[in-house]
Amino acid sequence: MHNLKALEASYQDVTALNDKLNQMNLELVAKHKAVMKKERRYRVLIEHMKQGIFIFEEKSGEVGGQNDFELIDMNSAMKQILSEITAITGLDNINDLQMIKEIKLLMALSKKGTKLFTDSITKRYYQIEHEHLTDREFMVCVTDKTQLYEKFENRRKQMWDLVSSMGKLVEKRDLYTAEHQKKVAALAVRIAVEMGLSSWRIESIYLASLVHDIGKISIPSEILVKPDRLAEIEYELMKTHVMSGYDILSNVHTSTPLADIVKQHHERLDGSGYPLGLKGDEMSLEAKIVAVADVFEAINSHRPYRPSLGMSFALRHLNEFKGRLYDERAVEICTELSNRTPWTLNDVEQYFENLVITSNVSPE
Ligand SMILES: [Fe+2]
Repeated sequence: MHNLKALEASYQDVTALNDKLNQMNLELVAKHKAVMKKERRYRVLIEHMKQGIFIFEEKSGEVGGQNDFELIDMNSAMKQILSEITAITGLDNINDLQMIKEIKLLMALSKKGTKLFTDSITKRYYQIEHEHLTDREFMVCVTDKTQLYEKFENRRKQMWDLVSSMGKLVEKRDLYTAEHQKKVAALAVRIAVEMGLSSWRIESIYLASLVHDIGKISIPSEILVKPDRLAEIEYELMKTHVMSGYDILSNVHTSTPLADIVKQHHERLDGSGYPLGLKGDEMSLEAKIVAVADVFEAINSHRPYRPSLGMSFALRHLNEFKGRLYDERAVEICTELSNRTPWTLNDVEQYFENLVITSNVSPE
């Protein structure tokens, strides 16, 4: 009797345990299905992404040695992108170790893990970004930026054309100002290049310099070409060219700060400039550079009312007032540059031809 009861109790325990196991099994199956559903969703998402993603695992782990990499995963967009990159780099296949090294080198060279791959034959542009997942595993994302880049290039071309037309307009009215703007542009670009500014900022400085005195088209000719020093009232009128230039350019929808650079090119660090009397860093660096190039060229050129005062006079003036009126670094570079052959506009255009302006495509 006692044994029978014990047996019944055990049977009930086993049944309860079995029910519990069944329940747990059901829950596990449901969880597994949910995980599978999520995985399917991510896989479909990745396979349909325009951006390519793949993961490299470093097998040997030797730093600086002949590291071996394994390509872990990639989507169809990746295959397309990689085959095009392979064509650009001239390498045979995507698993080529050299190709992987190339990508690693680009990543090492690039800022913030991004690099724009460009090819002049296929005219396609890829942005490559990378991120370490673990010490030995890193993920690479490749995005085709061709469409965005083409739009950006069109806008750049429109800006260059517009600035060139404005230059011609000034030329028709006032040859001196037209020539002055070109000389300032060539010098300002050179200072900006030596300063190590981004290509995007250098181009803004160039375009703004080419039109920095566009507002002079609103100044009467007799003042512009007056062979004597200007009377005070005439000088005050001359100063209005800055805001006229700003007004003309502020209607141009551009991603480069042309109008603002033009507005600030007669401001001085100590607040003694015009039209707003901005001080120090209230002025943009672009405007500070244009200001130095403008003063150098103005002193060094013949004016309707006086002959050129010469390069050494211009440099003496800039150095005397550097840090007070003019940006110190810009003056120092301008002084160094005076010992070298000056750039012509052709040199500047050559410089831009060899440059890929990327800042608007991928943030710096
Ligand atoms: Fe000016």
